[in-house]
This record gives sequence, C-alpha cells and structure tokens, in this order.
Amino acid sequence: MKALILSGGKGTRLRPLTYTGAKQLVPVANKPILWYGIEEVVAAGITDIGIIISPETGAEVRAKTGNGDRFGAKITYIVQDKPAGLAHAVKVARPFLGDSPFVMYLGDNLIQQGDLSYFLKKFKTQQQDALILLREVSNPTAFGVAQVDETGRVLQLIEKPKIPPSNLALVGVYFFSDTIHEAIACIQPSARGELEITDAIQCLINMQKQVLACQLNGWWLDTGKKDDLLEANRLILDTYLTTEIVGQIDSKSQAIGRVQIGAGSQVINSTIRGPVTIGNNCYLENCFIGPYTSIADSSKLVDADIEHSVILEGANIIGIHQRIIDSVIGQRAQLFVAPRRPKALRFMIGDDCQIELT
Ligand code: G1P
Repeated sequence: MKALILSGGKGTRLRPLTYTGAKQLVPVANKPILWYGIEEVVAAGITDIGIIISPETGAEVRAKTGNGDRFGAKITYIVQDKPAGLAHAVKVARPFLGDSPFVMYLGDNLIQQGDLSYFLKKFKTQQQDALILLREVSNPTAFGVAQVDETGRVLQLIEKPKIPPSNLALVGVYFFSDTIHEAIACIQPSARGELEITDAIQCLINMQKQVLACQLNGWWLDTGKKDDLLEANRLILDTYLTTEIVGQIDSKSQAIGRVQIGAGSQVINSTIRGPVTIGNNCYLENCFIGPYTSIADSSKLVDADIEHSVILEGANIIGIHQRIIDSVIGQRAQLFVAPRRPKALRFMIGDDCQIELT
C-alpha cells in the first residue's frame, strides 16, 4: 500500500498568503497543514509516500518537509508541471504508484486522527476498487457531490454541481486499487479544463466496479480559505494542544489553560489564555492573547490583544489598541501605531489583502 499526497495547485482562495508559498505549508497550530496528512498516513502504517508538487512551490515543500526521516517514512517528490486536475496528478504519479493500491490524500484537507486507519482497514478487508468518504456540508456546490440510494450505494458523482443532487460532499481522502488507472484513461477534461478524479470514480461506477462510499462522522476541514483555516486552527488547538512552557514568562504574566511557549521566547506583563501556541524566539509584552491563537516563530507582539487568530513567522504587531480577532497575519507583516502627525492610517498592502476597520 502506498500513499499519494497532493501538494500542488495555486491556492487562489488563500491569497495573499499563497503568493509567496504553498497553501499546504500554511501552519495550523504552528505546523504545516501538509504534515498532519503525512502523520495520519504514517499512523495508518503506510510509509512509502509520494508527494505531488508544483514547479512554483515544490522546492519549498521539499526543503521544509524533507526525505521523510522526521516522519519515519520514505518520501518521493513528483512534479506535476501544470495544475491539470487530481486525476492528472495520479497519471503523473503512475511510475511511483506502479500497480499498488494507494490512498490519495489532498494536502490541504484535515480529518480527525484515527479515521484514516479505520477506513484503510475497511478498504483492505472488503477488496474494493475504490472507497470514498462522504460528509454532509452546507455548501455542496463547492465540492464533488454524491447522489446515493437508500442503501448508501453511489449512483452518481458530480464535480462542483450548480444544482447539487444532495449535500454529501466528497472528502479529499480516497482509497484506490490499480483499476483507477483504467478509469483515468477513459475521462476527458472537465469544463474547468481539469482531469477530475470525481469523473474517474464515476467511470469506475459505470464500469460496474466495486465503489464503496462511507460517511465520515469525525471532523473534516478543507483549509483552502481563511475561515476554514481559522476553524482548523481552533479544532487542532482544542483537540491536541498540551501545556509545554519552555520559553520565559515573567512574574507579571499569567498563562491560563493549555499554553505552549517555545524555546527562546519571552513573555512580559501579558496574559495568555489557552489554548494558545507560541513558537520559538517570540517577544510578547503587554499583551492579551487567546483563546484559539497560534503565533509562529520570531514574531513580536507589543500592546496587542489577539483572539482566534493565526500569526505567521516574523510578524510584528505593535501598539494596536483594538482587539484583533478572526485574523490571519502573514509572514513578516508589520502592524503598528506610529506616533507621528498627521494622525492617519498609512498602508502598504499586498495584492488581494483584506483589511476590515471599524
Ligand atoms: C477537490 C475535489 C472535490 C472534493 C474537494 C475536497 O476540490 O475536486 O471533489 O470535494 O477537493 O476538498 P478542490 O479543492 O480542488 O476544488
């Protein structure tokens, strides 16, 4: 059994963060989203992992993630030269996959720990050609959608339907036997110009192959957009964070609830209300942080009040006397109050940023 993890694509819905990096490397609770998927796959006992990368962000994914040693796995990187669809990615990965069955995992998806192992066992024991996971969603037009009969058998799968036949979305985790390659050979690019894995699975159904659909009961997040990213951050902090204070926290500060503070970080005259994770070499003074906030390495926060937010590496937030909530602040971003006249707002804002003032 092998795993194919997809870490290509353009990440347009997470701009501007994705202008400078891969969406799968955006951190959730200070760890790249992609790594949660790798860890899930390894926990299910699969250590031969192929990662699909794009020419634009591939080098960064590779440099950060490495050869797999840190996960106890062997990682092979496979370049997909254009974002031509999920089924195209499987085609490109064929030399890596050979005739092995495999799990395909979209690198920006997060599922509850343990679920992958559970469904992998099911896939293996029932000898299916494909096992897909479905989850009820409120916005099915944004996903692949399944129409199932009363017994749960899949009748039809449609990618991003205008009029969805149900509210059951395809989760970005799929289990396939080598029959999928036959199906991929039969499909044509969709209206958005991509070879859709959804169409390939539909083709398996048309070929009378064994396609099992299971409903996922645990949580699932597709972190492709800001609010989903914040929700993923909340869930991961809520579920997995344990207290670990390595950095320094002075006597005028307090850390309440589950709080992590990394090596070399300093917390002065501040309140940290968990769950909160603070990376290495951060400096916090006169702050109120939390709950549900992740602050990446080398950030500097002074006179700041931040809740339910994700702060990326090297950001500076200084002297903002309004509470910051539901925010994602990019790497090295600077947010500060300058004591100069005329009193005014002065911006240098990157493309596609969203600034909400009151
Ligand atoms: C992809 C799949 C879609 C699936 C979704 C899950 O969509 O094409 O069927 O429901 O992932 O995250 P994309 O995120 O590429 O728009």
